[in-house]
Amino acid sequence: MHIGTTLTNYIIETQRKLPEATGEFSGLLNDISVACKRISDLVNKGDLVGMLGSAESQNVQGETQKKLDVVTDEIFVEALAHNGHIAGLVTEEMEEIYQLPASAPRGRYLLLCDPLDGSSNIDVNVSVGTIFSIVRAPEGRDDPSTEDFLQPGTEQIAAGYCLYGPSTLLVLAVKGQGVQMFTLDRDFGEFILTHQDIQIPEDTKEFAINMSNQRHWEAPVRRYVDECLAGKEGPREKDFNMRWVASMVAEVHRILCRGGVFMYPLDEKIKAKGQNGRLRLMYEANPMSMVIEQAGGAATTGRQRILDLQPEGIHQRAPVVLGSKNEVEHITHYHSEA
Ligand code: AHG
Ligand code: MN
Ligand code: MN
Repeated sequence: MHIGTTLTNYIIETQRKLPEATGEFSGLLNDISVACKRISDLVNKGDLVGMLGSAESQNVQGETQKKLDVVTDEIFVEALAHNGHIAGLVTEEMEEIYQLPASAPRGRYLLLCDPLDGSSNIDVNVSVGTIFSIVRAPEGRDDPSTEDFLQPGTEQIAAGYCLYGPSTLLVLAVKGQGVQMFTLDRDFGEFILTHQDIQIPEDTKEFAINMSNQRHWEAPVRRYVDECLAGKEGPREKDFNMRWVASMVAEVHRILCRGGVFMYPLDEKIKAKGQNGRLRLMYEANPMSMVIEQAGGAATTGRQRILDLQPEGIHQRAPVVLGSKNEVEHITHYHSEA
């Protein structure tokens, strides 16, 4: 593959490397890229097409939906439901898994996605994204059940995200094929390969966490951040910098480009709500962990590898610590000592 090639070419080349590929997987990646291009266009036009603001409805998590949360969800359904590449689909905005229309041909894959991540940033013109995860559908099942979707992250055959920032970027991790970055050429209407086989630096001096939750943190997280803040004079003997965009896609992308660590850990406030984390396992933590691991980074809950978690519900939450390998291991080690 060479820099400057199109996503379409990359997909076709990748298909050749997979002996069992029939073209359906390529079709699915193409459907996802079409959905992302449509979302990119809407995010870009914003107020000009009446896309900003609240939709005055709530999703299954009890969160107020933005207009774009609703519209991007519909875009995914429209781009995927009738093409015969998937057997089922679920998104953050859906209460239950989406049942394909009886007339629609069935494919061999299941798609899980967060169509609009970081939606609190949409009205202030800060980067947002789309996150997706692909697993195999069980054979011979026309209408997969919720249980069929509940596969651990290690079963993902591809995952990635699209970042709607100053440029629109699609980052794709096909199992065993590294991590590639494509930039959307808006005039041309194609994603173009701009970085290949991305590797995350193993060490870092940058961390990302929502500091407003500090008083609720568990001891290992408190210890880690305290030591970062102590800088050169502290036990880490170097000064750290901090970032918090509040769009996971933007944070993961920064880490992919220059290293760093991102944390949304378990804390006392989350526990008091009876939850096990802030971010959603199936369409946020798992796909991002696959991208990070394939780029040489690491992703844990603080206690165990995220990709090994056995999911119990579509909208289940999980604590997340991901990024530069040595730093994630450091934080995970603090949890094991506590
Ligand atoms: P979503 O917009 O899909 O609900 O996800 C937002 C997530 C994630 O992108 C971000 O890292 C985090 O929520 C921000 O949380 P805070 O509001 O606590 O900063
Ligand atoms: Mn999200
Ligand atoms: Mn979302």
